[in-house]
Amino acid sequence: MRIGHIQLANRLFAAPMAGVTDRPFRQLCRRLGAGYAVSEMVTSRKDLWSSLKTSRRADHTGEAAPISVQIAGTDAAMMAEAAVYNIERGAQIIDINMGCPAKKVCNQWAGSALMRDEALALEIAEAVVTACAPHGVPVTLKMRTGWSAAERNAVRIAVGAERAGVAMITVHGRTREQGYKGSAEYDTVAAVKAAVRVPVVANGDIDTPAKAREVLETTGADAIMIGRAAQGRPWIFREIAHFLETGATLPAPQVSEARDWLLEHLEDHYGLYGEQTGVRSARKHIGWTVQSLPGGPAFRARMNTIETCAAQAAAVADWFDDLAARTERLPSAPAAEPDDVATLQ
Ligand SMILES: Cc1cc2nc3c(=O)[nH]c(=O)nc-3n(C[C@H](O)[C@H](O)[C@H](O)COP(=O)(O)O)c2cc1C
Repeated sequence: MRIGHIQLANRLFAAPMAGVTDRPFRQLCRRLGAGYAVSEMVTSRKDLWSSLKTSRRADHTGEAAPISVQIAGTDAAMMAEAAVYNIERGAQIIDINMGCPAKKVCNQWAGSALMRDEALALEIAEAVVTACAPHGVPVTLKMRTGWSAAERNAVRIAVGAERAGVAMITVHGRTREQGYKGSAEYDTVAAVKAAVRVPVVANGDIDTPAKAREVLETTGADAIMIGRAAQGRPWIFREIAHFLETGATLPAPQVSEARDWLLEHLEDHYGLYGEQTGVRSARKHIGWTVQSLPGGPAFRARMNTIETCAAQAAAVADWFDDLAARTERLPSAPAAEPDDVATLQ
């Protein structure tokens, strides 16, 4: 699996998720089997680049290659400039966001709203490709199947984007109108795959190894991308990798392994966000990890009362040690549906 000239370790990708797939989480997913992980979107608005949020998103210190940065915006020249800004900060692949249904993005005609204006979408693709070419940086595109069931134009946009020089296309199998409701469909992903020569990535509702294999087989996609199912369960990548390779199901992780992964993740997380923000923003990752475990909901509630990173990490270590004394492995059932999609998107 390659993106332009860049060879990837495998065809299992971690999806960009604003507020989730920051550098520490991407690194964790990579360590646990994802061959590739895309950053949270970075705005093309220059006035926001110096904000703490954007400068954190553009900081790739210690991140494993290839470093991929997703940019979002509505103006071709600004998007081209944003691409170069991120290349100067370490991006080796630039991804254009045409999938985000968030209102604040759509009101400015960014994210999936761009799919409604095909001429602008392709103007942006061309401008970003032209800006990245002298740096040898491939450009990719992530989109939905269309704006609505009546305006499902992913194939047309994919063909135009390929002509503009885009090196890989990811399709989330929902329309913008669907938000996160209903189920992802993969027929449109298969149609995109059949229409272009560049690699195509299938995305949406892939939450088990069996589903991963089924989606790869039915779409003919070159890779799959996983978002929500990795929240609190980043080891899903190694489970899928093992299943695709051997056809066998990997046993669920040992409680002690999950403990160590979460503690490593927390340490990285505190390093990026610092004490004040770190202790708060880590709560969601801890919550997702424990929510489907015995006693998890009560522990999750207790997390909200802990105000220092050291106390939080110590509580997590103790809680998992307790659990390890009672059971060797995590239950193999997938984590429950993350509960804050609606608020984040
Ligand atoms: C909390 C959250 C934040 C997201 N942020 C982004 C984003 O910044 N850029 C993007 O292209 N997609 C974003 N997405 C969409 C995901 O990348 C993915 O396309 C979608 O969740 C479907 O895949 P899944 O069913 O595996 O989660 C986000 C999704 C969630 C749940």
